[in-house]
Amino acid sequence: MDRHFPAPPSLAPGASAPTTATGRSLRWGIVSTGAIAATMAGEIALLEDAELQAVSSRSQDSADAFAAAHGIACGYGGADDLTGLERMAADPEVDVAYIGSPHSEHAADAEVLLEAGKHVLCEKAFTVTAAQARRLADVARANDRFLMEAVWTRFQPGSNRLWDLLADGAVGEVRWMSSDMGFVADAPPTHRLWKRELAGGALLDLGPYSTLWPLTVLGRPEVVTASGLLTDDGVDAQEAITLQYAGGRHAHVTNALTAFGPRALHVAGTEGWLRAGPNLHRVTELTVQRPGEDPRTETFDDDDASSGSQGRGYVWQLREVTRCIQEGLTESPTMPVADSVASMELYDAVREQLGVRYPADDA
Ligand SMILES: NC(=O)c1ccc[n+]([C@@H]2O[C@H](COP(=O)([O-])OP(=O)(O)OC[C@H]3O[C@@H](n4cnc5c(N)ncnc54)[C@H](OP(=O)(O)O)[C@@H]3O)[C@@H](O)[C@H]2O)c1
Repeated sequence: MDRHFPAPPSLAPGASAPTTATGRSLRWGIVSTGAIAATMAGEIALLEDAELQAVSSRSQDSADAFAAAHGIACGYGGADDLTGLERMAADPEVDVAYIGSPHSEHAADAEVLLEAGKHVLCEKAFTVTAAQARRLADVARANDRFLMEAVWTRFQPGSNRLWDLLADGAVGEVRWMSSDMGFVADAPPTHRLWKRELAGGALLDLGPYSTLWPLTVLGRPEVVTASGLLTDDGVDAQEAITLQYAGGRHAHVTNALTAFGPRALHVAGTEGWLRAGPNLHRVTELTVQRPGEDPRTETFDDDDASSGSQGRGYVWQLREVTRCIQEGLTESPTMPVADSVASMELYDAVREQLGVRYPADDA
């Protein structure tokens, strides 16, 4: 298979991720007090070598409440003409920051933290535009700091097995793929998912999962075709994307905030097909069917029943961040910044065809 991206580390089904306990804990700061920030605080607490040091918020009350709820030492809201984020960035007790703010804030938040000498794990979508992503890559390099987009899916046992199966030719040469992510977003119009100024919409929210495998397995497409449905506010509620590759190969991707999709990946090859599900962002079931053979299904329990320490599936990426920082790496070989830049370039191209423009496009 033509590998366009580095292969993830190979993990046998059910095997544990490498442990990273080296005796030196990383001290984490969390940016924002929203939904995923709360989940991640719980996941970081599961790490063998992590301390929850600080949280920043636009509001001191929120920072204090979040810190109290999660056993975090310091809560930073705005004070003395500094934002909570700037105050946390100045805290020498913070080694690495996890950014859980809306898409519109990622680039600016990450830049402040990197310039202050913090390592950064930034939620998906990495940025709003590819230009922002390229700039962040430069800032991280200039400051010699670790930077990674929080594509947690890429580190799960089911994902590693998926990669190994394809790389080992389980379906032969890959000819086409289809993937979808979708649910009915019944959030109010003020929610970040629907707000243009917060870079809402289906593509930036769900694309990092639905385009992960086409980009990882087939690489950058030669031709991108997209059509979709926009809200009155101008964000994408739903889209269909076709990625075309040399030799007539293609991938078809659907994202929707309007419908419950199967959230599955199908890979069709010259010697069989593979299905990954039942949730593309957390693959726990893989089926391979080759002509004339019974389908083979493998299941994955990423909660690690033996120790109960795998949380809700995010610990795998947190261990990778920890390992990389402890080993002095500035990028994860499995989820390098170049992959995030490639994703953002694809999303720029899709948004241009859909007619979705964010304030960051005019910055
Ligand atoms: N990996 C996953 O499974 C997963 C799941 C859900 C979301 N996400 C990603 O995580 C990020 C946040 O999503 P979420 O669902 O946690 O969002 P959310 O619940 O709306 O929380 C976002 C938080 O960001 C802060 N914030 C900073 N600037 C803001 C602004 N201008 N408007 C609103 N909030 C602002 C707020 O915290 P303060 O008030 O404390 O500043 C807010 O609570 C997004 O990038 C999303 O794609 C990832």
